[in-house]
Amino acid sequence: MRILITAGPTREAIDPVRFLSNRSSGKMGYALARVAVRRGHVVTLISGPVALRPPPKVSFVAVTTADEMLAAVKRYLSQCDALIMAAAVADWRPRRVSAQKIKKATGYRLLCLEPTPDILKQLRSKKGRRVFIGFAAETERLLTGARRKLAEKGLDLVVANDVSRRDAGFEVDTNRVTLLEAGGGVRVLPLMTKMKVAARILDWLEAPARRGCASGAAGGRVGA
Ligand code: PMT
Repeated sequence: MRILITAGPTREAIDPVRFLSNRSSGKMGYALARVAVRRGHVVTLISGPVALRPPPKVSFVAVTTADEMLAAVKRYLSQCDALIMAAAVADWRPRRVSAQKIKKATGYRLLCLEPTPDILKQLRSKKGRRVFIGFAAETERLLTGARRKLAEKGLDLVVANDVSRRDAGFEVDTNRVTLLEAGGGVRVLPLMTKMKVAARILDWLEAPARRGCASGAAGGRVGA
């Protein structure tokens, strides 16, 4: 399959020196890209700024902001059978970006934020027969939040992870995820390495039911 994967954080500028971001290291998305390539899939990896080297044999696209990530996903979506959004895309950004470094002498600063584009929501209408897999990063009421995102973003699968756990979510080499299917199926996975989590997600994607859905993804009815 041709798989489009996003990974890492985005950075939303405050001024030429400072930005809003998050703790995503890219490990989860890069593990998905690495395992997918090993299994013979054609992978395009769109990555925010991380300290990892791109895995071999992937088409690599570097982005910085949520807007740039949206543009890149839009650009490559038509060429893919499946989209896996593992990136920690910023939800907000400063409403105004200062052209000059903000001086401390100006005293207490109020940072007015505005929402960034919701990439999965915006691309829902372009899903066609492609398989869309999203992640849900929650710190409480994991399944409630994940189910809401599954429905709101029109996903086939959401990978829910409690990012408040020390051994799961951001930066660490392990993750503890629950897979929630649009059809209602729930698979709770135990703590395992992100490479093993990636393998389990790709096992789900490669199942005949999905392949039928994704094959000829260019157009036609929405995935089953
Ligand atoms: O990179 P690591 O250090 O390995 O950490 C892995 C991870 C914690 C980043 C990863 O497992 C994870 O949870 N990624 C999703 C983080 C996130 O943004 O979750 P969310 O619940 O805020 O977003 C839900 C889904 O919508 C995600 O698929 C996200 O990519 C997508 N999204 C979010 C914001 C936005 N503006 N547009 C989006 O499409």
